[in-house]
Amino acid sequence: MNKNLRKAILAGNWKMNKNRAEAAELINELKQSEIIKNADCEVIICVPFTNLETALELTQGTNIKVGAQNCHFEKSGAFTGEISADMLTEMGVEYVIIGHSERRQYFGETDLTVNKRTLAALNAGIKVILCVGETLEQRDDGITEEIVAMQTKIALKGVTEEQLKDVIIAYEPVWAIGTGRTATSQQAAEVCGFIRSTVKSLYTKQAADGVTIQYGGSMKPANADELLSREDIDGGLIGGASLKAADFEALVRSASK
Ligand code: PGA
Repeated sequence: MNKNLRKAILAGNWKMNKNRAEAAELINELKQSEIIKNADCEVIICVPFTNLETALELTQGTNIKVGAQNCHFEKSGAFTGEISADMLTEMGVEYVIIGHSERRQYFGETDLTVNKRTLAALNAGIKVILCVGETLEQRDDGITEEIVAMQTKIALKGVTEEQLKDVIIAYEPVWAIGTGRTATSQQAAEVCGFIRSTVKSLYTKQAADGVTIQYGGSMKPANADELLSREDIDGGLIGGASLKAADFEALVRSASK
């Protein structure tokens, strides 16, 4: 495995935070950062639907890419409250988070719907940040690998090796999200490595070597260097620490090393 084959990707997941004025303020701060301007990693901000237009407008001509946090699998129709992948493409959105554990936990997302949403996004030309990860109970039961393998395999069903180039996998142990309890770099690296071997079993070694695997779950400036130094951890999906310019900037610096 060769980390140099892959680009580090740092993505902020703003979740349901920031009104329009607050979003503009944060993006303007990020835009002014020399560290972000000169980043040697890809920088993405995944904002609420209501901030997509603002984010796309303000990041024009910068190296900051914009993502959404979900999309529906149908092209259009009677799906009150949903947004289709085509609607995102039309706006110019480049990335979408699919299968975040909060969607699985609170909104009935299943491996099957994660697969359908993944295919819909890829077919609409949007790159996918696909989230997988075990709960604390599953980790304690010793079934982390089984859970993560199942989530990965079902999510990628029908995704071609060519399409896989547009997929980033985010390993997010549910017990580490928003809890301040980070996985140790050893724990995170083990599972990210395992996910890569799962991708290899589904595709080829070349495909597995090329796929970017992020860690997510209370990643912050204080622990980023150690996590990102690991061979199989190619970046981060950042919740809380993406909401403050100084923290996100520090994480971009770590990912650029
Ligand atoms: P956190 O969230 O960094 O606040 O733990 C990560 C995520 O849910 O993507």
